[in-house]
Amino acid sequence: MQIEFVSPDTGLAPRTVLAFAVPEGEASSFQDGVFAAAVAASRFTGARGQVLQVHGAADRVILVGAGKIAEFDALAAEHAAASAYAAVKTSGLECLRLVPAVDTGEFAARAALGLRLAAYRFDKYRTREPADKKPSIAAAQIVTGHAAAARAAMPPLAALADAVVFSRDLVSEPANILHPVEFARRVKALEALGLSVEILGEPEMADLGMGSLLGVGQGSIRESQLVVMRWNGAADPAAQPVAFIGKGVCFDTGGISLKPADGMEDMKWDMGGAAAVAGLMHVLAGRKAKVNAVGILGLVENMPDGNAQRPGDVVTSMSGQTIEVINTDAEGRLVLADAVWYCQDRFKPRFMIDLATLTGAIIISLGNDYAGLFSNNDELAENLLSASKGEEEPLWRMPLPKAYEKQIDSPIADMKNVGGRPGGSITSALFIQRFVNGLPWAHLDIANTAWKKPSTVPTIPDGATGYGVRLLNRLVADHYEERA
Ligand code: BES
Ligand code: MN
Ligand code: ZN
Repeated sequence: MQIEFVSPDTGLAPRTVLAFAVPEGEASSFQDGVFAAAVAASRFTGARGQVLQVHGAADRVILVGAGKIAEFDALAAEHAAASAYAAVKTSGLECLRLVPAVDTGEFAARAALGLRLAAYRFDKYRTREPADKKPSIAAAQIVTGHAAAARAAMPPLAALADAVVFSRDLVSEPANILHPVEFARRVKALEALGLSVEILGEPEMADLGMGSLLGVGQGSIRESQLVVMRWNGAADPAAQPVAFIGKGVCFDTGGISLKPADGMEDMKWDMGGAAAVAGLMHVLAGRKAKVNAVGILGLVENMPDGNAQRPGDVVTSMSGQTIEVINTDAEGRLVLADAVWYCQDRFKPRFMIDLATLTGAIIISLGNDYAGLFSNNDELAENLLSASKGEEEPLWRMPLPKAYEKQIDSPIADMKNVGGRPGGSITSALFIQRFVNGLPWAHLDIANTAWKKPSTVPTIPDGATGYGVRLLNRLVADHYEERA
């Protein structure tokens, strides 16, 4: 979508929808007869998310609820723009002209971000979609008296939108297309942004002793990959980096502990953690963040096969710790065990944050909106929680009780990979903690937030959310970047 910032006196483009964002309580103050009549005949109050079509005016006019003016903020600006777009995207008209509720350069720029995110669509495999079902809005004008400020605020937000789109595309791709080698190839292409990308294949991982990660992929004909992304934006290229690690199970059948058929197709998005980390590195490079950052992706496919790992197998991780694989469907933690250990061993980062669609239990614990946050460090946890509020990617902190460690004791190895049903998300986090070697660390279980159907946020269309990219970008920007 082509988005521009225009002054109020700019003429209307042909085939335009005009959208006015109206603060709650101000809908009844319209003097103009057409608006006043439309409002009077409806229940429109300006509450957030409401949309009212006004008939009898220009091409088409809508009113969009912007919510209470006292609560109006950047996210409200995004929402109003996104709701307007969603209401008219298939109207047949081509331009959306938005008059924001509160006119600042920052809010106009955030409205543009809201439009970009709301207009996301994964339609590359649709070849017969009827023309009248396709979005018709191809351009947007955001009306503002602060166009220069809005344009100046745009570059980091455009970089963010590009990165969220990149991440959503990875998550949306089916697993016959996006296997580990293809995922790594797409990440390698990000070197054009100034990142460096290294790809380790199975022989390199075997040399490093990554028996835990390799065991997961051994039933697949697709080669497992470990991708190391680096962005060096700090003044000192040797400054200690921050580090992010993503679970990238390109498809999770469960392996020999095979999942039931119903809903198994969802497991194409079991690489949402890796996609979030790749998206984060994309935005850090795209906006030239003043930080050194490492992103590590553990990419595997979990398949049943004659060569697949069996329940009861014992594998040796890169850390030297041995793991009894009780259930081959608890594979994400096996991938992270080696990826996390490798990360701390090679980079000695300031902290590590891993993201993973790790457990069904987090859906049971927290429902569909709050990802689970587990951390051994209160400062890192607080910084994540505050970043989460600013970007509307909710998090809820969960405990890491020592007493639950015994649930993952094994009679024949150093640990087993499942701890039973009680506290399933917690015991999986305790498992990963055994590979962080005492560094400040946080684990985000995003099994409930990587994919939404239906979505309840106007800037997130149904399907891949890109959860984590905004949160971690804000975390880095607010707490770990060098100040200019
Ligand atoms: N990828 C799944 C977790 C998952 C489940 C994500 C549902 C999204 C929706 C993970 O690999 C898994 O299978 N976890 C098992 C662990 C169990 C075997 C201990 C689970 O949560 O059932
Ligand atoms: Mn699994
Ligand atoms: Zn999985």
